[in-house]
Amino acid sequence: MDDLLNRTRAAVWHPCTQMKQLEAAPPLAIARGEGAWLIDPDGRRYLDAISSWWVNLFGHCNPRINAAITDQLGKIEHVMLAGATHEPVVALSERLAKLTGLGHAFYGSDGASATEIALKMSAHYWRNSGRPEKNGFVSLKNGYHGETVGALSVTDIPLFKSTYEPLLRHTVQVPTPDARLAEQGETAKAYALRCADALEAHLAEHADDTAAFIVEPLVQGAAGMAMYHPAYLERARALCTQYRVHLIADEIAVGFGRTGTLFACEQAAIRPDFICLSKGITGGYLPLSAVLTTDDVYAAFYGDATARGFLHSHSYTGNPLACRAALAVLDIFEHDQVIAANQVKAIEFTDVLSEVATHKRASHFRHRGMIWAFDVADGTAGFSSRFHQAALAQGVFIRPIGGTVYVMPPYVTSGDEMCGVADAVLACLDNPAI
Ligand SMILES: Cc1ncc(COP(=O)(O)O)c(C=O)c1O
Repeated sequence: MDDLLNRTRAAVWHPCTQMKQLEAAPPLAIARGEGAWLIDPDGRRYLDAISSWWVNLFGHCNPRINAAITDQLGKIEHVMLAGATHEPVVALSERLAKLTGLGHAFYGSDGASATEIALKMSAHYWRNSGRPEKNGFVSLKNGYHGETVGALSVTDIPLFKSTYEPLLRHTVQVPTPDARLAEQGETAKAYALRCADALEAHLAEHADDTAAFIVEPLVQGAAGMAMYHPAYLERARALCTQYRVHLIADEIAVGFGRTGTLFACEQAAIRPDFICLSKGITGGYLPLSAVLTTDDVYAAFYGDATARGFLHSHSYTGNPLACRAALAVLDIFEHDQVIAANQVKAIEFTDVLSEVATHKRASHFRHRGMIWAFDVADGTAGFSSRFHQAALAQGVFIRPIGGTVYVMPPYVTSGDEMCGVADAVLACLDNPAI
């Protein structure tokens, strides 16, 4: 194993990592996975309590997803999607259209490529509609939409953004409805509506040069699982319609059941103009993202002039193996009634985490669907990595975001497994050195 760690340090530039820190805290070497578990080359097991960066839904090495990909491997692994098509991409587009109410699916690879597609498509729509000056973007304070240059422009996490500021396009951030920021005595809903007033004030003045408002519905993941009331989305939808600005729902992290409904927008009973999907779409198997949009947007691109079309592409767009994985994921949702089953599971897991919720070091304990989070106010510099290492020693893979500890387990996690997670979190909290 030491050999693998030396080789990874020498040859692999790890994401979102100061490589020097790997000298003191090497990455976890993983040889295989099984259900909610990651297993190292020596057979030690770690519960994947954050679903491998929020992508895994139905466990590692899931037999049903494995079978779908294996079957597809014997047919066609990939064909370019410009000038060709195939059954898995058509079937997936049809099913996603039924589920989202948005009938036109454009594919990318990772989440950030979906953000890029939605931003470009929105601005191009206004250009094709004779309003080229409508090309600005608005997003939420502390929002995260990915790290390519366009996506980073609408992201608002200084640690990721500041260094690249000279490369980025100017965008505007409006107040986040993060319920933790409500005044004393103010409800989460009242605070959300107060933030929506700020959005309205901005749109009232700037709608003429604004293409779209992009938002992470219900939970701002990278901000530290900031959760907010659905009333914000309901109001944002109405305002975007009123001021003729697109609403882009970035459901890359929250889609596919994470917040308790298949898509978070359902909890506000709204339909966005664009929905961005990725992460859980393939159950955490293969990189795939999709942007779905309305007939109106689609129609604005349809015509004889080539340049009026959306001339954007990625080589692996609509990869058949990834689409088959996604179709297998949708089959599991349907056949196993996953959304209903998760509602029961979420109640059980919240109960399992009750001691964590009331721990003296934990504040703002919050929960939505299959996400639980709390803040550790006394978490000093290095808290996140100390917590991560200590949890690993307890057999649980958790990576706090700053002082926010969160649990986002695969949906196949059992009550007993969740008890193990709760015990590990409590042991970390009880250790004053962490
Ligand atoms: C809401 C949201 N949007 C976009 C992204 C970017 O996705 P990717 O890392 O696949 O590029 C993420 C990733 O965490 C995300 O949480």
